[in-house]
Amino acid sequence: MAIHAEKDTTSAGANVAHPLAPLTSAEIMEAAGILRSQRQLGARVRFETIVLKEPEKAQVRNFSPGNPIPREAFLVILDCEAEATFEATVSLDEGKVTSWKHVPGVQPRIMFEEFVECEATVQASPEFQAALEKRGITDPDLIMVDSWSAGYYGFADEEGRRLAIARCFLRTGPNDNGYARPVEGLSVVVDLNKMEVLRIDDYGVVPLPPNPGNYAAEFVKEFRQDLKPLEITQPEGPSFTVDGYAVKWQKWHLRVGFTPREGLVLHDIGYEDQGRVRPVMYRAALSDMVVPYGEPGKDHYRKNAFDAGEYGIGSLTNSLTLGCDCLGEIYYFDAHLNTGGGEAFTIPNAVCMHEEDYGILWKHTDWRTGHVEVRRSRRLVVSSVATVGNYEYGFFWYFYQDGTIQMEIKLTGIINTAGIEDGEIPKYGTLVAPGLNAHIHQHFFNFRLDMDVDGEGNTVYEVNTVAEPPGPDNPHANAFYAEATPLKSELSAQRVVDPMKGRYWVVSNPSVKNALGRPVGYKLMPGENVLPFADPTASIMRRAGFMAKHLWVTPYTPGETSATGPYPNQHPGGAGLPEYTKNDRSVDNTDLVLWYTLGYHHVPRPEDWPISPVSYCGFSLKPVGFFDTNPVLDVPPSAHHNGACHA
Ligand code: CO
Repeated sequence: MAIHAEKDTTSAGANVAHPLAPLTSAEIMEAAGILRSQRQLGARVRFETIVLKEPEKAQVRNFSPGNPIPREAFLVILDCEAEATFEATVSLDEGKVTSWKHVPGVQPRIMFEEFVECEATVQASPEFQAALEKRGITDPDLIMVDSWSAGYYGFADEEGRRLAIARCFLRTGPNDNGYARPVEGLSVVVDLNKMEVLRIDDYGVVPLPPNPGNYAAEFVKEFRQDLKPLEITQPEGPSFTVDGYAVKWQKWHLRVGFTPREGLVLHDIGYEDQGRVRPVMYRAALSDMVVPYGEPGKDHYRKNAFDAGEYGIGSLTNSLTLGCDCLGEIYYFDAHLNTGGGEAFTIPNAVCMHEEDYGILWKHTDWRTGHVEVRRSRRLVVSSVATVGNYEYGFFWYFYQDGTIQMEIKLTGIINTAGIEDGEIPKYGTLVAPGLNAHIHQHFFNFRLDMDVDGEGNTVYEVNTVAEPPGPDNPHANAFYAEATPLKSELSAQRVVDPMKGRYWVVSNPSVKNALGRPVGYKLMPGENVLPFADPTASIMRRAGFMAKHLWVTPYTPGETSATGPYPNQHPGGAGLPEYTKNDRSVDNTDLVLWYTLGYHHVPRPEDWPISPVSYCGFSLKPVGFFDTNPVLDVPPSAHHNGACHA
């Protein structure tokens, strides 16, 4: 059974119960309407962003139900004719534009409408059709055109233009997997503001791969027969409660949010302890991500997708289906976003929330008496899935009863493919089917974690385990210990993982002590991770400088919201974390933001074709001295067929 979030209402301001509630559809329309009526917008403008301008922290903290709720929208407008970008804020309370400024030399992200128009533009180009004919392709409507950001390489004819690189694939019919037949060697550079083909780069004909790569049910001849039904039922309903966007579950308190750029956002995360909600994080979201590819030839060196900053991963979020995407007793939140035309549109069921049994929480058998105590673990899952071109990314936040928070990314969808001459063994990729090359690549995600561990004054420590050298204090040479070093400024807090040292990072609050007299803390536990392989001189290393370090720490500063800066599309580089941190500000006992970079290394396998089974990567935040003792002794024993799980 699914429960649905309250339907969006028609009048602005109604149904808004908290300052962090995302804009309603009505508010989105109203913000666009106010801007249109009070500013002379050009004839051809696109609304890139219409989102809630989140109020200042103090305003949010001091809010109590019944107080007036300030509502302000932040907008980004692309004027395609003037080739100019503008930022606006609109007060919905006062019905007026409160700021309006031109932002020179930037490109907003590529919008969904541009993908659609770009495909039609390329298909209609006579030069493109001529290039297809050289490859024996006569019907341009069968071509799928994926628009990739052009990046930044300093080419004279590209300078200052809003561009996409169109990469093309041939379908045999509307349901065919076109990624099986890349039109190799053909790259179309499109001016998105003029919506015209700027240039066609033809690197020569490579034969189309011979085989289809279809995975849809209609193409599968025989399904395995031995799967019995597996049903998840919660006869008394789920254990969480929802009020608007506020969620309570097993001592956890949090708020759900959503933006077109970041997708799922979590606010105000806290854990109830002895009658008090103790803050852990003020805000948590993906800040940006990038997928650098390792093939140097043709135009492939330009393949690096910033899926949040260049394409707006939130706006590409799936509408989820009960029993397919999510199993069990599900609560869905809708996402209300804007189109390029400044209209509102809703992604129904954009965020899925449910509980999962997660095996054993803790257990001990007293072997002398045979007495067993065991508890079952449960977790709350808040998730969303986005489709960015060929790839799917699922972002799953897990909350555990013992205070652990986990982020798990699920990577699936279709690998990016290229054609290769028959008989050639690719160096920078893997042959996944005859004539089909999947280039080596990496996926780097950066999560912005605005920490508030029991309040705003926090300090980060790096903990490494050190082997004591043999000597008078270590006569048997067995000694080792954990050593914590404070990271007091931004540059000293730029760190990489080191699993051989058992390295982790603790966000600690020096002014709040646990019962043992030690400062309370939460540790960031890295999982699988990797560093980029692109050389430091590569364009992508300048444009995605955040990849070079796994940990970054900054003092909370309004406006510092993305690892790649506000406008990574075609940006020459240096923005975001490298720029934020260049003055080496203090991050000692301050309101700080942790930025964690997570690299997933992808050497494609034949098993990734024609569709990749889910791969997982992630990290956890775990209480460390945050509680005085094991916080889950009060989880009751489960019932079983002979009574309770303890005896
Ligand atoms: Co991959």
